[in-house]
Formats: sequence, C-alpha cells, structure tokens
Amino acid sequence: MIDEPEVRAFAEQFRAFLKAIEESVPAPEPTRLHQRVTDHLGGDPTEQPVTTEGFAAYDLANVQAAMDAYLAGDGVSVDLIGLVGSGRDHHNLADLMNNARKQAQFDIGTVDYTTVTVGVGRERACVSFGLYLISDGDKRLAVLMRLSNYRGGALETLIEVMGGGAEGGQTFLHRIREEIIRHHICRGQVLSFEPWEYGAGMGPLRFHERPSVEAADVVLPAGTLEAVHRQILGVAEHRERLLAAGHHLKRGVVLYGPPGTGKTHTVRHLIGAQREATVIVLTGLGVQYIREACNLARVLPPALIVLEDVDLVAEERTTSYSNPLLFQLLNEMDGVAGDADIAFLLTTNRLDLVEPALAQRPGRVDLVVEVPLPDAPGRRRLLSLYGVSAHLEADEVESVVTKTEGTTGSFFAELSRRAELLAATAGDALVGMKHVTAALDELARSREAAASSGRPQSPPAASTPYV
Ligand SMILES: Nc1ncnc2c1ncn2[C@@H]1O[C@H](COP(=O)(O)OP(=O)(O)OP(=O)(O)O)[C@@H](O)[C@H]1O
Ligand SMILES: [Mg+2]
Repeated sequence: MIDEPEVRAFAEQFRAFLKAIEESVPAPEPTRLHQRVTDHLGGDPTEQPVTTEGFAAYDLANVQAAMDAYLAGDGVSVDLIGLVGSGRDHHNLADLMNNARKQAQFDIGTVDYTTVTVGVGRERACVSFGLYLISDGDKRLAVLMRLSNYRGGALETLIEVMGGGAEGGQTFLHRIREEIIRHHICRGQVLSFEPWEYGAGMGPLRFHERPSVEAADVVLPAGTLEAVHRQILGVAEHRERLLAAGHHLKRGVVLYGPPGTGKTHTVRHLIGAQREATVIVLTGLGVQYIREACNLARVLPPALIVLEDVDLVAEERTTSYSNPLLFQLLNEMDGVAGDADIAFLLTTNRLDLVEPALAQRPGRVDLVVEVPLPDAPGRRRLLSLYGVSAHLEADEVESVVTKTEGTTGSFFAELSRRAELLAATAGDALVGMKHVTAALDELARSREAAASSGRPQSPPAASTPYV
C-alpha cells in the first residue's frame, strides 16, 4: 500500500526541482526579426491587431501587381524581408511575431519567390513568402504576403496586415483591391478555367493565344454570322448609344448544331474579332467555375464568356428534374448587371437538353442560332476554302458537292488533308479528281465502319481549339 502523504511530499519536491531547472535556463532573447518589426512599427508587434484577406492562388500575380503599384506611390518606401524557421507556414503573422519574441523561433531570412504565368509565354516572379515593412507618410505597416494553405483547404494568396490598428489594415486592403482591378493581369487576355486535377497548385487558370479566324473562313448559311456579329460585336461597338437609350448590354447567344459543323470555329472567329475583350472560356465541366468567370468579367469588361458544350453539364442531373450546375450557370448569368458589357456565348449539340432550362429563364439568351450541316452552296464554299476544288473542273466540283451531302464542315478539312496525302504518296504535284475521289471513298468506308460499330458518323472534329 502506498503511503499517500509520502507521495504528496515527493510530488512537491519534484515540482520544486523542475522549477529550479526552468529558472536556471535563461529566457531566449527575442530574435532580430522581432526587434526589426518592433523598430519599424514603433511598438511590440505582438500587441497589434492583424487584418487578413485571402485571394485565389491564381491571383498571386494580381496581388503582386497591386503591391508593386501601391509601393510605387509618392512617399511610400519599403523594406522586404524573408522569414526563416521551421513550421513558419503553420503560423499566422501574430503567432510568428509571438514566437519570435518568446521562443526565438523565427528570424530574418531570404524572401521566397514563385514564378507565375501571366500570359502566353510570359512569366513573372511573385513573392510567395515575404514580409513588407512599409512606410507610407507617417504610417507604418508590416504586411506578410504568401502563397499558402495553412488555413486549410485550397492553396490561397494570403495577405496579413499589421500596423495602424484594424482601420489601418482595412484601408490598406481596400487600396490593394482597387489596385488589383487597375492592374489586373487578365485584362484583355484570352483565358480558360479548366477542372484542376493535380492536387494543390496554382489552379485552373490558363492563358491562350487569341485565335485569328477571318469571317470569310466561316461557312454558315446566309445571314447567320451577321446576326451573331450584331449581338456580340455590334452591341459592344454601340455600347454608349445603347446605354444612353436605356438598353442593356449584357447578352446571350446560343449556337447549336451537330458535331463538326463549325460552332467552335465560329467562337474562335468571334474571340479574334473582339480584340479588346477579356475572354473566358469554360468547357464542359469547367462550367463549375462560372462564378469565378462572372466575377472576373464584372471587373474586366468588355468581356466575353464562352460556355462550350453546355450539354455536358445539362446531362449531369442529380434528379430527373434538377440540374444544379446548369441552374447555377443561369443564376450567375442573371447576377450580372444588365448594363455590363458582358456577352455569354453558349454552344451545344443537344439543344433539347439545354432548352428547357433556358426556357424557364426567358431573357437570358437573346439569340439562338442553328449551325447546321452545310447546304450545297455551303459545301461548294467549303471545297474552295479547304483548297479541294483548286485544280478540279467545274463539273467535278459539282459532283463532289453532290456526293458530300450530309457531311459537316470538319469533313471538308479532313477530305482536303486526305486528298493531299494521297497525291503526295503517289508523287503527284497537284491534287486532282482521282485523289479527291479516293479520299471520299476512304472517308465513306470509315464512316460506315463507325456507323456499324455504333459510333458517331461524322469524322472527329479538330479538338482542343484554344490551346
Ligand atoms: N462551318 C464551317 N466553316 C469552316 N470550317 C469549318 C466549319 N465547320 C467546321 N469547320 C472545320 O472543322 C473544324 C472542326 O469544327 P468545329 O470544332 O468548329 O465543330 P463544332 O461544331 O464545334 O463541333 P462539336 O459539336 O463537336 O464541338 C474547324 O476547326 C474547321 O476547320
Ligand atoms: Mg465545338
């Protein structure tokens, strides 16, 4: 049996022993980091409130551009320092300062940079962990900027502001938000949001070269392209007049038709024709980024939001009646103000799936345009456009026009390629009727094979048109 008073006495002695050890070890000196920030702010940083704001990871370059613009202002000077110490990314700014003082855990080190894509073939280095010690007139701020996921969830661009009290932090962040809009890296660019399946990363934003497709190279029934032009480009061109007359600028156009008839081709032409617009392309399940796309378009007008193959989304029903993603898309379209110069361009080859949702929301789409299989004059133009008819006699051209009934625009691009290849293989300098006929036979055979295997009958359309 243990004697209780004896145990208690031992415990007391042991506690006194531990205390003696603790007192014999001197408290660590605060690090240079703590001293440096204290000197800058004119007071102990551990007693300052911190104002925090998170931005998307892909906004790092925008936040950087905003910081640079702010720092370039009159009467603003800055010292940028890095931080070292293990586990620094698990602490917020207040903790970092506290630990620098009490446990000498974090100190001044080198600044971390991350290279970010800011356009096609353009990159810039952005601070991904660094502390800006800012003097703005008589104001003193310490601003920690980093790319982090320490708050849990996705990677984000995080700004923490110390100095000037809570109000100083709010004022600073307000300025940063303004500067982001002014210096936004996406303004006037062509970009896409794509589902991001590679774990933590900068996210789904990609930049693309602005395509260049002449109106003459888009073969559609008479009046079709003109009608689309009027809605998309005409409204942008006459924006002042329309606004003055009290009309809305926001508009929606749906292009529908079978695969390979030129919907994406038309979209590429429109993107190229609207040189100043910020273009955001969402394809299929990329529509989940519709909120981000609308937010971006709101701050960067004139803007064109392209929603390709919306039927893919329309098919994603959770019940037979509701379709969250499609309705989210329509809600977001509703949420854009009418006077914003923002155009929505939707494409689909299943109008029957998309139409019910659109019909329930009248007024979101101003124009629904069919992009059909080409008629005889269309096929004649396509033969010429793709160089097939260049060396054929008039009656030969007519026979090809007749034989190609029921084919798509993309068929002619493929026919041209095959005929050229057959001519090259045969060592013939020019493509003639025999090559075209052989190419037609080949394509007919592969269409029959595809049909008997239950696959779609049209040849595959040229894919990934934006990259
Ligand atoms: N109407 C057309 N005028 C000129 N070229 C066309 C036309 N239609 C198709 N093409 C050619 O075929 C290619 C593929 O067509 P496109 O990608 O535009 O088809 P789509 O209608 O978008 O098909 P999908 O429904 O499968 O997305 C185009 O890049 C272009 O070269
Ligand atoms: Mg397409």
